[in-house]
Amino acid sequence: MLSLKKIKELRDQFISPSLSVAYKDPLYIVKGEGQYLYNSNGKKYLDAINNISHVGHCHPEVTKSLHEQSKTLNTNTRYLHENIVIYAQELLRTLPSHLQTCFFTNSGSESNDLALRLARNYTNSKHTIVIEGAYHGHTAATMEASPYKYNGQGGNSAAKYIHQIPMPDAYRGRYRENSADITEYYIKHVESILDSLKKKDEQISVFISESILGCGGQIILPEGFLALANKTIKKAGGICIADEVQIGFGRVGSHFWGFESENTVPDIITMGKAMGNGHPLSAVVTTKEIAQKFNNGMEYFNSFGGNPVSCAVGRTVLEIIEKEKLQENAYLIGKYLIKGLNDIKKRHNLIGDVRGRGLFLGLELIRDHERMAPACSEADQIVNDMKERGILISTDGTDRNVIKIKPPMVFTKDNADQLIDTLDQLLIKKKYN
Ligand SMILES: Cc1ncc(COP(=O)(O)O)c(C=O)c1O
Repeated sequence: MLSLKKIKELRDQFISPSLSVAYKDPLYIVKGEGQYLYNSNGKKYLDAINNISHVGHCHPEVTKSLHEQSKTLNTNTRYLHENIVIYAQELLRTLPSHLQTCFFTNSGSESNDLALRLARNYTNSKHTIVIEGAYHGHTAATMEASPYKYNGQGGNSAAKYIHQIPMPDAYRGRYRENSADITEYYIKHVESILDSLKKKDEQISVFISESILGCGGQIILPEGFLALANKTIKKAGGICIADEVQIGFGRVGSHFWGFESENTVPDIITMGKAMGNGHPLSAVVTTKEIAQKFNNGMEYFNSFGGNPVSCAVGRTVLEIIEKEKLQENAYLIGKYLIKGLNDIKKRHNLIGDVRGRGLFLGLELIRDHERMAPACSEADQIVNDMKERGILISTDGTDRNVIKIKPPMVFTKDNADQLIDTLDQLLIKKKYN
């Protein structure tokens, strides 16, 4: 086995320098099991951040179905195979009935890229509304639709057909929970973009949004915002994409899909991450009408998307979510975590806000409660200190002052206690500000 030092050296030599590693002291992880990861010295870590390993790291039923199918056949979708059609049927059963057509892809970025193509083709326009701080992927088109990137370090300003609205953040956003019509205020920004397009006689194409903003900082949208925004866009002839890449597959606990908890129904849904439990599997699901208009003579071919192995894995993940009641677990453990974190918030001024749904939670750290200055370096230090104590979490948000908690869905009450107690003890013992 290569040493940590050697791997670092080889990585510096051969791997793209723009790919960062987590933590000041990088981890050399060699094994995963359930909600635990193990480093090269056998140290065990509680993984409270890896939402891709949805049903648990290396779930034996997932690895078995991958192994069994790959022993028999793996090829592209130009041949008939039962896995792709049965999986599509099973997936569609979890979605509203107007969403009837699947496209299989290999990453969340690819799904959002294709979703933008579908919307642009349907509306014959490229005008896209995005939310400040949003991330939708690393392809050229999704980077353009990701303020998290184009407004971040090394980014360029937005393309002229990308229109950005302020992050609907009731805690530290432009309009806050103490203003009565907060949803209306944020919606006015959508309306004003639509008005200015109308004045120029131009057509809106698409509004793309997550139902809880992940990279934006685990932001729960103000009540009714997403439903009203989607309604306003549709009235203007636009298409609504729900990016479920981070939060789909039961993670929000109350529902299988995040958009359901916002009482809205999108025209296109994109999914990935959890879908293959680490295997590169993702999808776009849309209406027959949108898919039909896309079928204009140009073929949609994908070398890997929808192959028999990926679909076998996807089917097994769906089965496990149901069999092990993981959505219910996310609901119960999520509530327990929110309560426990709110309890310790009373003791620690640094914690400004505790929020989230199911097992998709955020702790926003601030330096003082009056100016609400973001506690960025403190958040970074806490994440590194928690790692030293065997718990893996990370930061996000435009100021990177939000601690993210989004563990595998098999997270238990004992795991929640360990996380809360370790954080509490750390904040008692160490002065961060
Ligand atoms: C909301 C959202 N959409 C899309 C993506 C891109 O997914 P992928 O990394 O699988 O390309 C991400 C990745 O973090 C994401 O958070």
